[in-house]
Amino acid sequence: MLDLKAQYATIRKEVEAAIAEVLESQQFILGPKVEGCEHLIAAYSNCAHGVGVSSGSDAVLITLMAEGITAGDEVITTPYTFFATAGAIARLGAIPVFVDIDPDTYNINASKIRAKITTQTRAIIPVHLFGQMADMDSVMEVAEKYGLIVIEDAAQAIGAEYKGRRAGSIGHYGCFSFFPSKNLGGAGDGGMVVTNDATRAERLRCLRGHGSSSKYYHKVIGGNFRLDALQAAIISAKFPHLDDWTTARQANARRYDRLFREAGLSIGLPARTSDRHIFNQYVIRVSRRDQLQRFLQGEGIATEVYYPVPLHLQECFAYLGYTRGAFPESEMAAEESLALAIYPELSEEHARYIVKSIIEFYRT
Ligand SMILES: Cc1ncc(COP(=O)(O)O)c(C=O)c1O
Repeated sequence: MLDLKAQYATIRKEVEAAIAEVLESQQFILGPKVEGCEHLIAAYSNCAHGVGVSSGSDAVLITLMAEGITAGDEVITTPYTFFATAGAIARLGAIPVFVDIDPDTYNINASKIRAKITTQTRAIIPVHLFGQMADMDSVMEVAEKYGLIVIEDAAQAIGAEYKGRRAGSIGHYGCFSFFPSKNLGGAGDGGMVVTNDATRAERLRCLRGHGSSSKYYHKVIGGNFRLDALQAAIISAKFPHLDDWTTARQANARRYDRLFREAGLSIGLPARTSDRHIFNQYVIRVSRRDQLQRFLQGEGIATEVYYPVPLHLQECFAYLGYTRGAFPESEMAAEESLALAIYPELSEEHARYIVKSIIEFYRT
């Protein structure tokens, strides 16, 4: 699915130099490398402030904490996302309220949000799944009307654009992940929150260091949510390559599209609804998905299912009381979606082999 070694071979020198610099400095916690990384990512996302944090999961959590979201509050999001999005809400005792997805984009169906708003609703977390942004005009319209906070979960969408605006810059906050499989991945866990609001940025900085702005004086209860200097240095060293990598992913996506269309197979190809889809994942929709996946595995082809169980059907969320059928589009996507390798270094030969094998499966 992902050949990180192929990528590392092209950037080894820059990354090793960045690591050596941090080791020489012996400054591992916050400091200039973290600040430098924050400036890069904030500017890239057209935001005034970046706050480096320990992971994409903690990015979502800390924004909810910064808004004082707590037990009994309701936060609207999609059930078709990585667990962290809803996990962060539930960890604070707040209630994840799910809204089904648009089947073409896999993103939250914004036209269904309004019906889920109650007096307890505090925020909306749209997720820009697979690298394509949600319908942010509609999300912002309903959020503004009801005075709700919007937290963009842009963990999979760094550099994605919607009507010329970058992921993370439209809502009150944007959350990124530097998990190694992301378009910009670190050498471990890492994340960032971007915002255009200086007061919110300050609150986040305070919360990521145990709620302390001045050492040993704690204004609020935070946590240790810091991005470490080694990760920041590695991410910053990789950053100049990000646009080239994304361009290569987009070219790979176009090639898949072309090959599948030429084959005349009736499978669902990724829809492009926003200006810049960064293709963190290339996800097709197919019948007999699990059989196809096993067949491809036998051919030496790795694929991935994002996500086999929508969040409203997860065991840990049984207390929310949702049952099968509650969100049919998410449930169908969970049965039909299959992600193919899309990493920048994917060779044409390998892509052709994957498509050829899928054709073979459906023709025999
Ligand atoms: C949509 C989404 N949100 C949040 C996260 C959490 O990021 P991390 O793995 O860095 O904690 C991920 C990571 O996979 C993600 O895909």
